[in-house]
Amino acid sequence: MKNNQDLWTDVDAYFADLLVHSDEALDAALRDSMAAGLPPISVSPAQGKLLHLLARMQKARKILEVGTLGGYSTIWMARALPEDGRLITLEYEPKHARVAQANLERAGVAPLVEIRVGRALDSLPLIAAEKREPFDLIFIDADKESNAEYFEWALKLSRSGAVIIVDNVVRNGAVIDAATEDESIKGVRRLNEMLATETRVSVTAIQTVGAKGYDGFALAVVF
Ligand code: SAH
Ligand code: DHB
Ligand code: MG
Repeated sequence: MKNNQDLWTDVDAYFADLLVHSDEALDAALRDSMAAGLPPISVSPAQGKLLHLLARMQKARKILEVGTLGGYSTIWMARALPEDGRLITLEYEPKHARVAQANLERAGVAPLVEIRVGRALDSLPLIAAEKREPFDLIFIDADKESNAEYFEWALKLSRSGAVIIVDNVVRNGAVIDAATEDESIKGVRRLNEMLATETRVSVTAIQTVGAKGYDGFALAVVF
């Protein structure tokens, strides 16, 4: 009998092969991210496709991502944009941004995407000051310590009806450990406690298993 993780990985591969239809540019983005020594923490293919479908359902024209890494999730979402769409993605590590830029170019989405290098908490006020059109979809997937602040910015920068997705809100179930000393779990819990009383959104959280283990995401729609 397989252990749970092996089974989750195999089922993820089964659906990836059958339904997700990732392609050479997406696979190469993961390969080159790995070869450059980036951590293997991109969304899975099935999760990338979910982000893509959510962006399509939203008819998103403006997307904001916090946490680019090698641009894998970025490619999935950018591919949902119309020709005049725009995706801004925020990344702290210049090396990650360089790998991502090459991956975006190979995937043919670079003209739609702007990577802003720096701490997201520095970039977000600048974006607000630019008085751009509000975002239709926001994906939060960077340092978990700042999740609550990122969500606040997401609310400021989004339109009514926008969708906000926050990755990694379960962390192997650790999210329910009120005594945790882990700063990233504390960050996830602080976000959840803020969401509990947040009247500007309707929100749920979904646990997931798959190649990336046991985790989950929060999904919110802005009133
Ligand atoms: N969304 C990506 C994975 C992102 S991993 C995908 O699914 O393909 C998280 C990324 O957030 C890492 O690249 C990390 O360098 C970046 N990050 C961490 N702290 C950050 C900060 N304060 N500001 C911006 N990016 C940050
Ligand atoms: C980690 C970060 C992520 O965004 C993720 O999806 C999985 C793991 C991490 O920092 O360990
Ligand atoms: Mg993540």
